[in-house]
Amino acid sequence: MEKTRMDCLKNGPYKVSGDLDIVDSNGKTVSGQGLKTYHLCRCGGSGKKPFCDGTHAKNGFVSE
Ligand code: FES
Repeated sequence: MEKTRMDCLKNGPYKVSGDLDIVDSNGKTVSGQGLKTYHLCRCGGSGKKPFCDGTHAKNGFVSE
């Protein structure tokens, strides 16, 4: 089985790679089939949560 990995990108999203399902608060799987790498918002500003849409670069998010 492929190991799952999460990287905290500087001033940006979480980059998650591996064999995983991303499930929303309603129990719906929101990860795409066949995709292995996801960027998850941690700035709170994305319009496509839980995924990053690049807003962190505009809203001044600082991760450290
Ligand atoms: S981390 Fe990229 S939009 Fe929030």
